[in-house]
Amino acid sequence: MTEIPENTMINTTEAGLAVAPPPVEQPSATLPERPLMELLNVSKTFTVRSGGKRLTLSAVDGVSLRVREGKTLGIVGESGCGKSTLARVITGLHSATSGEMIFDRAQIPASGKRPKEVIQQMQMVFQDPSSALNPRATVGESIAFPLRVQGMSRKDVDARVTKVISDVGLPASYSGSYPHQLSGGQRQRVNIARALALQPRMVVLDEAVSALDKSIQAQVLNLLTDLQRDYNLTYVFISHDLNVVEYISDEVVVLYLGQVVEHAPAKELWENPQHPYTKLLLSSIPSMDPDDSTRDQPLDKDSSEIPSAINPPSGCRFRTRCPMAMDICAQQAPPPIETSDGHLVACHLYTEGSQAAA
Ligand SMILES: Nc1ncnc2c1ncn2[C@@H]1O[C@H](COP(=O)(O)OP(=O)(O)O)[C@@H](O)[C@H]1O
Ligand SMILES: [Mg+2]
Repeated sequence: MTEIPENTMINTTEAGLAVAPPPVEQPSATLPERPLMELLNVSKTFTVRSGGKRLTLSAVDGVSLRVREGKTLGIVGESGCGKSTLARVITGLHSATSGEMIFDRAQIPASGKRPKEVIQQMQMVFQDPSSALNPRATVGESIAFPLRVQGMSRKDVDARVTKVISDVGLPASYSGSYPHQLSGGQRQRVNIARALALQPRMVVLDEAVSALDKSIQAQVLNLLTDLQRDYNLTYVFISHDLNVVEYISDEVVVLYLGQVVEHAPAKELWENPQHPYTKLLLSSIPSMDPDDSTRDQPLDKDSSEIPSAINPPSGCRFRTRCPMAMDICAQQAPPPIETSDGHLVACHLYTEGSQAAA
């Protein structure tokens, strides 16, 4: 397999994470492209209480997507749009309210108990590096714990712990350290090591680098890229930070109020965003290029208020913030349309027979 040369390390600037240069193209023929996981029309609702009434909150609504083996699927969207709920549904921490899920070509229960092998093959890394680790356990103990639970022998556990600590770029001596003795970036490396120790095929990273300083973020992202290659891992990488998602993802799903509004190869999404919400998100990223003043300003504060997931707008959920909204948008939810190879958009501007498409 080709080594990624040193000089593909991403540069960091004080302004933020610089996204160039992109990772070296891997020869795609050597990488399997079949989906490792598929979601079909998956929804998750919560029952919440408000003023003595029980209300239904639609956190994830009718999500269908594919995660290709050995690749990274990025998931972006503003806070509250359902990213963490979707991550938990994917890894089985939440059971879905409805829908179907396929892992490694076999149907897995979308709600209810999953087979043990499936649970072990999907691991999750969360945002907050400190709360995920037991403050009273050493790094080595934290990584070893899930392996012991699996019944692995002491000798094998020790060997595995030593290997993953080294694989995440920490000195072997850190095995005896406690979480409070480590920096945020080091603690997140420990969390990654703990996930890797179980030898998963898929890792769901929910805002895994969001709490870290930009320069540390870049190091952890490079580590993740190296581990993906060495372990042939499939990633679902969730972040509200589009720069980070663009850097690490092969494909990106844009979520708005629990629904997929756009799904495209990462480069294509950035060069040719189609959904008005994706355009809004991209126009709100601070540009890394000081000469680039061409980006639009985000919508003003009032019109950018996100509606509640308890009572989402009819038809297209984005219509209340959409500068392009038409009558049909309030009446019908737009179906996903494939506008080019692998580029899906759910917007009436692109549905056949719409004024705009015409
Ligand atoms: N356990 C829960 N109970 C009730 N509502 C929840 C729960 N978890 C998330 N939600 C709601 O679901 C919606 C999506 O939340 P979340 O998945 O955390 O979004 P994100 O990760 O994109 O910020 C929000 O409206 C949130 O308030
Ligand atoms: Mg979240």
